[in-house]
Amino acid sequence: MKFFIDTANLAQIKEAHDLGILDGVTTNPSLMAKEGIKGHAAIMDHYKAICEITDGPVSAEVFGTTFEEIVEEGKVLAAIHDNIVVKVPMIKDGIKAIKWFSDNGIQTNCTLVFSAGQAILAAKAGASFVSPFIGRIDDSSWDGVQLIEQIVNIYNSQGFMTEVLAASIRNPLHIVRCAEAGADVCTCPLSSILGLLKHPLTDLGLEQFLKDAKTMAH
Ligand code: E4P
Repeated sequence: MKFFIDTANLAQIKEAHDLGILDGVTTNPSLMAKEGIKGHAAIMDHYKAICEITDGPVSAEVFGTTFEEIVEEGKVLAAIHDNIVVKVPMIKDGIKAIKWFSDNGIQTNCTLVFSAGQAILAAKAGASFVSPFIGRIDDSSWDGVQLIEQIVNIYNSQGFMTEVLAASIRNPLHIVRCAEAGADVCTCPLSSILGLLKHPLTDLGLEQFLKDAKTMAH
């Protein structure tokens, strides 16, 4: 399973990259706004800066909602860097645009996916990635990971090439369960990635090893 970081914060992207486990980055308008980015030029520069840190795919989301707007914006975003993946919302014009991008060699990530039916449509249109939001599904008392499992099974049995990108990750257990469910990619906040490191027995064991190591120092 590939690890993407779900943030537009350059310091966090660099920290995950320096850990050696980062395969890509996802952003969305809320994450970009959180970084205080304002205006077209600043948005373009920020995506460039992200692409300079990571070698993997970088999802950049369109703001438009009509086919024409999505295609125009997507072409501009895709021209920033070869690694840009145009992130398109799961709406009727979004599906049309994903098909256009796919026919024209531009990678896409179909976002705001909450059902298997939506995931089938995204794959049929030729999306490179599909992003089911598992945390938001859990927030409304459904099991988000079950949806990942269902989409993985459908894509495998139907031979769809679209990668299942588990999004809206809230904690390390989500990452473990998405790996079990066969997700191709998990996009996570840095806190959830670092949370995978933690186990009290590791801390206790290391404390003892370091104590014993000291006794051998002289
Ligand atoms: C995915 O691509 C989205 O950017 C993100 O995972 C949404 O997460 P949230 O539900 O925590 O906002």
